[in-house]
Amino acid sequence: MADYPKVAQLKTVEALRARLAELSLDLPVDDEILTADQGSPLAAPLAIGGFTVGNRWCIHPMEGWDANRDGSPSELTLRRWRHFGLSGAKLIWGGEAAAVTPDGRANPNQTLATPDNKAGLARLIGELHAAHRQAFGDLDGLLVGLQLTHSGRFCRPSDKRLEPRIAYHHPLLDAKFGIDPRDDSVVWTDDDLERLIDAYVVAAGLARDVGYQFVDIKACHGYLLHEFLSARTRPGRFGGDLEGRTRLLTTIIGRIRDAHPRLMIVVRLSAFDVVPYQTSREIGQPMDYSALKPYRFGFGCREDDPLTPDLAEPIALVRKLKELGVAAVNVSGGSPYYSPHVQRPAIFPPSDGYQPPEDPLVGVARQIHVARQIKRAVPELPMVGTGYSYLQDYLPHVAQAVVRAGWIDAVGLGRVVLSYSELPADVLSRGSLERKKVCRTFSDCTTGPRNGLVSGCYPLDPYYKDLPAAEELKRVKEGLKA
Ligand SMILES: Cc1cc2nc3c(=O)[nH]c(=O)nc-3n(C[C@H](O)[C@H](O)[C@H](O)COP(=O)(O)O)c2cc1C
Ligand code: SF4
Repeated sequence: MADYPKVAQLKTVEALRARLAELSLDLPVDDEILTADQGSPLAAPLAIGGFTVGNRWCIHPMEGWDANRDGSPSELTLRRWRHFGLSGAKLIWGGEAAAVTPDGRANPNQTLATPDNKAGLARLIGELHAAHRQAFGDLDGLLVGLQLTHSGRFCRPSDKRLEPRIAYHHPLLDAKFGIDPRDDSVVWTDDDLERLIDAYVVAAGLARDVGYQFVDIKACHGYLLHEFLSARTRPGRFGGDLEGRTRLLTTIIGRIRDAHPRLMIVVRLSAFDVVPYQTSREIGQPMDYSALKPYRFGFGCREDDPLTPDLAEPIALVRKLKELGVAAVNVSGGSPYYSPHVQRPAIFPPSDGYQPPEDPLVGVARQIHVARQIKRAVPELPMVGTGYSYLQDYLPHVAQAVVRAGWIDAVGLGRVVLSYSELPADVLSRGSLERKKVCRTFSDCTTGPRNGLVSGCYPLDPYYKDLPAAEELKRVKEGLKA
């Protein structure tokens, strides 16, 4: 079993610094949390696409597997968006992944960005705005977008069964997710992609019509537009060299820009990847890729050592995105389905994961350094960093230090917002955290949906603790121990 010191046991900033030094990790950590009045770098405004965002806190998109079957928001979905509004963060990066076609959903309860759900999309932003106004008096400096997605290899639109639509046959992912490598019926044709591009343009128009200020074209975490970035073996216009592999993403952006010239467009990118890991109860191990060298099935990893990032192509893509008028990039990495320790570092793995193969602080630092390198390469483009939740009590200390140092422009929050949505406001107004609300990376918010339950912070959010799903989750976890 992995046995790393828990962050909650590191009682002082000095203890965290000592642990980082032991791991040879270079991360700046401030001594104290600063409030806005004390000049916190996180309180500074940030220009994105001609809009001045009120501070440097961003809420990452997080879906809850809790929309109604018709793709409209349920009370749980609305509650999550209300919490985003109450958080005090001024950049709401997409709210959650909304599927541009019903068959592109990652689960039957995913929110839809289709004409039938226009009213639902309006309710989500309306609820967030009302909560923000109630807590902070107005909407000044608040920038809210909608994340648009197609789940590709991870589509489950009907039930727990995968109904994949893939860019190309990937030797390891096909094996991991039960796809017959000879079955080409699951591979997108170029003609079908043209229809998909249309669906993105329609979805962007809906978002604009109901008041979202931007759309995020999701290209991360193993979903369709991320998968295309590594489609070297795909023949035709949408595969092969970097230009071909990025064509689907850049065409969608160009077509949305032409149809809706005043709508801001941003991209969430998995800027590095690794070989898929095996699901197990043991310490995580990559799948066997010895017969696949040079490894040509990842985006942003070395061909000779695909466990190590290679940012040459991601940087070239980010430069291209800037040329296309993309207003900002949110830098992420890996995938929750095949490399969760990379994508959302945690001490307790989700049910389809494995014990962490490294101290999760290593995963945090990897994400921060990748984002830093991309920011350094394309300094004019505003960027948001990811993977900070594992820092727990010290999240603000690192966040304000990296923003001050210019490593990144804004700090995005994922899981910690599920357990402690008011964290950004508390930091900026009080300079302290409520420790009992800090996410301890138990991963129940991932294990729940992997087992057909809604996502949420079952351990720390009293609302979820009391749901019948909490009992079911307990049974699932007991079963895993048996
Ligand atoms: C329950 C849950 C749902 C998520 N849904 C999305 C999503 O819809 N879109 C997305 O880009 N990332 C999604 N993510 C990833 C997060 O945005 C974020 O990248 C990840 O949790 C790492 O950040 P953190 O360390 O602050 O949690 C989700 C994560 C969790 C835990
Ligand atoms: S369930 Fe709660 S404590 Fe666990 S990882 Fe998710 S947000 Fe954090």
